[in-house]
Amino acid sequence: MHLYTRSAGEGLPVVLLHAFPLSSAMWLAQREGLATTCKVITPDLRGFGGSVLGEDEPSLDVMADDVVRLLDREGIERGVVGGLSMGGYVTMALCRRHPDRVLGVILADTKADADQEAARSNRERIAATVLDSGTSVLVEEVLPGLLGQTTVQRRAMVFGRVRGLVQAAPPGAVAWAQRAMAGRRDSFDTLRALKVPVLVIVGEEDEISPRADAEAMVEAVPDGRLAVIEKAGHLSAIEQPEAFNRVVAGFIGELAGGSPPRG
Ligand code: MLT
Repeated sequence: MHLYTRSAGEGLPVVLLHAFPLSSAMWLAQREGLATTCKVITPDLRGFGGSVLGEDEPSLDVMADDVVRLLDREGIERGVVGGLSMGGYVTMALCRRHPDRVLGVILADTKADADQEAARSNRERIAATVLDSGTSVLVEEVLPGLLGQTTVQRRAMVFGRVRGLVQAAPPGAVAWAQRAMAGRRDSFDTLRALKVPVLVIVGEEDEISPRADAEAMVEAVPDGRLAVIEKAGHLSAIEQPEAFNRVVAGFIGELAGGSPPRG
């Protein structure tokens, strides 16, 4: 699987993995804002954006191995790997399967526990609905939770942009990713075993992966720090890109031996 990838900048490689049901388009402000700090590498996970879906059974491990193949292709032995929500689940799978490829970890608006049965069956319902009648169910049921109340009330352009990204999601990829996420395992053991610094970011208005999930991840890792992004919901990188970029740039500076992260 050859992931379609957009990159910007030079220096320390920082791979950012997108949320469901979006694509690397969500990281536009990070490619623009972090390119003077590091090399920002943003793949489309399989089935989304410019990447094909392939024939494999749904699995986050498959997605994590795709990202490691991307690192191989780019000649990157070790890099910072991070992701937002679904991208965070893939990051944790990568940390479990390929811990030696990771220099630092960024987990944004995500959680380390597995789905409960109710969440799993809801994912299967959405997968079946999307395959049967298209992605309008995502606009009706998924989109409302993605953005914080501040964005919904005050930033119509951001809302419109995210709505467009959700509408562009291919049904096959949506169903595959829902089934992959439903089958994911608990990642707390993986977090406890991490030997590299971890930055956990959460939008203060995130209702899908709220602050308590972020705090549980910070407590689990041996070397963690938490950044809370004000006036942002689940898509903190899109809703408050300057604040998001500031904490990521601080973390990268810290990894490179500079000052600790702010925010
Ligand atoms: C995401 O933003 O990637 C999703 O909310 C993840 C999920 O459905 O658990």
